[in-house]
Amino acid sequence: MKVLVVGGGGREHGIIMKLAESSKVDKLYCTPGNGGISKYAECFSVKADDIDGVVELAKKISADMVVVAPDDPLVLGMVDALNAEGFMTFGPNKMAAIIEGSKVFSKNLMKKYNIPTAKYEVFDNANDAISYVEKENTYPTVVKADGLALGKGVIIAKNFDEAKAAIHSIMDDKIFGESGSRVVIEEFLTGPEISVLCFTDGKAIKPMVSSMDHKRALDNDEGLNTGGMGTVSPNPYYTKSIADECMENIFKPTIDAMNREGRKFKGCLYFGLMLTPGGVKVIEYNCRLGDPETQVVLPLLKTDLFEIMLAIYEERLEEVDIEWEDGSVACVILASGGYPQKYESGKQIKGLNENGQIENAFIYHAGTKYENGFFLTSGGRVLGVTAKGMDLQEALDKAYKTVNLISFEGMHYRKDIGKKALLALNK
Ligand code: AMP
Ligand code: GLY
Repeated sequence: MKVLVVGGGGREHGIIMKLAESSKVDKLYCTPGNGGISKYAECFSVKADDIDGVVELAKKISADMVVVAPDDPLVLGMVDALNAEGFMTFGPNKMAAIIEGSKVFSKNLMKKYNIPTAKYEVFDNANDAISYVEKENTYPTVVKADGLALGKGVIIAKNFDEAKAAIHSIMDDKIFGESGSRVVIEEFLTGPEISVLCFTDGKAIKPMVSSMDHKRALDNDEGLNTGGMGTVSPNPYYTKSIADECMENIFKPTIDAMNREGRKFKGCLYFGLMLTPGGVKVIEYNCRLGDPETQVVLPLLKTDLFEIMLAIYEERLEEVDIEWEDGSVACVILASGGYPQKYESGKQIKGLNENGQIENAFIYHAGTKYENGFFLTSGGRVLGVTAKGMDLQEALDKAYKTVNLISFEGMHYRKDIGKKALLALNK
């Protein structure tokens, strides 16, 4: 089988490394890929959200299966376009991807089908949103842009002035473009967060091992929200009883709800959950594998990933027994100086070998390119330094030991990835 993966970050590197283990996969392609991926898959320059370009590429290389990994092309309908040309795909179609593409859609879905989530109101003009916040007068309050915003469309406002500024910048200044035409104003919830990625073919739903993301840029959860600065797996808060509660109250009801709405979801459905004093609640849905969750989840997958993707496409996931390794994985993101705001690219990365890896650790490339024998930075999140261990402490020790071997100008990373999870384990 020839498999084309669409995307070019650490998540796609993780998917490619796993697909490379499959006995069914003969050749891997990736577009646009990155420096690290180029060592394992043939890369092309078609952008991840260029639907016509990806369809053309799939024809040119006679791809058997196309894995659409990022949110933008899924929400734009890349899977529909590929299916129309007869290609097998992994990822939801446009009708189903709206579960991530519109927070208004997903919040209304949860309300309609009684899926636990934060209380909210939707607004399509800034004045009404501001009056509402003033009247509620409860802080912190959460302001969310309706559409996609690179994981940065959520602002937690500590007081009225911050909420007002957030609403203005999203709805009037359009800092996230048309994504900000509507906002959701939501109750602020507290509690540990859990990410659960689930394989689903719209009939069966099979959760992967759980993980914990670290979204803020700086240690102790300070600084701005990012795409994710590190992850650990499994998440110690995701106990058997919490998993059962999620399956009954959240996972199955979501699949049923999407079917009832005529929006069968096939691919990976990502549940961003919060363990609140009032039970588990959904913070967000993503219509794809998470980044950097994938980097800590897929290394524990024992079952052939290609077989799972094929079973989902053919809607026979129920038959597949998905197995996971014991142990833990930790991933520390090395970011460019300034990320998640303005940063410089083109810095030489030191400490990698010619394959972009170091023995015993797997380094997923996110924003790198390979030029004249050197790896250079080319994005905000540059590398995901990842290690597996018998337990979380061992995985973290190995990951941070590897981090110490790598350097580039301006490099920054969080020194406390996994700290909360360790505290929870030792409680
Ligand atoms: P999202 O992009 O929806 O995942 O939101 C980014 C982050 O904002 C989440 O991972 C949470 O840490 C935080 N967040 C979102 N919604 C809420 C909420 N209702 N209460 C508290 N924190 C939230
Ligand atoms: N790490 C969170 C996400 O992929 O959206």
